Amino acid sequence: MAQDAIRLDGKVVLITGGAGGIGWATAQRMAQRGARVAIADIAFDRARELAETLPGALAIALDLEQADSIEAMIAGTVAHFGRLDVLHNNAALLGPDIAQQDGDIEHMATALWDRTYAVNVRGTMIGCRAALPHLRVSGGNIVNTVSNLALQGHIIQAAYSSSKAAIIQMTRAIAASHGIHGVRCNAVAPGMTMTPALREAFPPQLREAVEGETLRPQLGVAEDIAEAVAFLASDAARNITGQVLVADGGCASHVPGLAAFRAFFSGDAFQGVGH
Ligand SMILES: NC(=O)c1ccc[n+]([C@@H]2O[C@H](COP(=O)([O-])OP(=O)(O)OC[C@H]3O[C@@H](n4cnc5c(N)ncnc54)[C@H](O)[C@@H]3O)[C@@H](O)[C@H]2O)c1
Repeated sequence: MAQDAIRLDGKVVLITGGAGGIGWATAQRMAQRGARVAIADIAFDRARELAETLPGALAIALDLEQADSIEAMIAGTVAHFGRLDVLHNNAALLGPDIAQQDGDIEHMATALWDRTYAVNVRGTMIGCRAALPHLRVSGGNIVNTVSNLALQGHIIQAAYSSSKAAIIQMTRAIAASHGIHGVRCNAVAPGMTMTPALREAFPPQLREAVEGETLRPQLGVAEDIAEAVAFLASDAARNITGQVLVADGGCASHVPGLAAFRAFFSGDAFQGVGH
């Protein structure tokens, strides 16, 4: 393997939700590594503004609820750059208004469930379906952004979390079917990641609760997820496929209740425990 296999020189990378916190950090990191980047987002004006700051980048209007919009995104990227090497399915149905409606199953509105699945699951599937013929040609790969909520139960966001779990299984299905064609497919599962949108919207006391369960001294930021995506997308990860890379500061790796245990063992009698 080339020493600089982590680089993305010559590769064309398409990022959905590229105008958002994690998507934009990923676009910048991929471009730094030599990729030519297409930024697709429903917030097209913002995507265009951002693309203008990255040499050679392309902005694309995308609505993941519309199959023809997704297919046009793939076709437009290939028409512009002549190839597609990486599809990063990063956009999702998000926002405080959506999160507020997305609680437990007993109180779930069918319309919200359907919309969540339309954007997150069907949108991802259609993007992958349209991209795969091009990825077979380039020997490329797909990186799907899921969530730590897809891996553990919670009292919030039953629709969002189960839609992300469906994307994990789609990741494995694509990896299994298309590995033989030289196409890889992986997922990155961020834990709570301090993007500008989340910093604004997330209640501070809940943020502190998550911080208390994080093994690192602080929560991750968008650049941490960008780094994981850029690695999986690169040739350095050529033997990795069908996997979920959890990038959550170790939140999901331990027995629950860590914050309370830290507090309990913080006295002198327990020096050496949790220090
Ligand atoms: N930030 C976190 O704590 C966190 C944690 C776990 C997983 N994630 C996942 O990371 C990904 C990025 O999240 P983020 O925190 O950067 O959010 P964000 O809100 O900053 O960015 C999401 C982007 O997706 C775009 N988008 C939304 N609906 C769309 C649609 N129908 N069509 C096209 N684009 C659409 C938005 O305009 C936005 O630019 C998401 O898949 C999210 O589920 C984030």
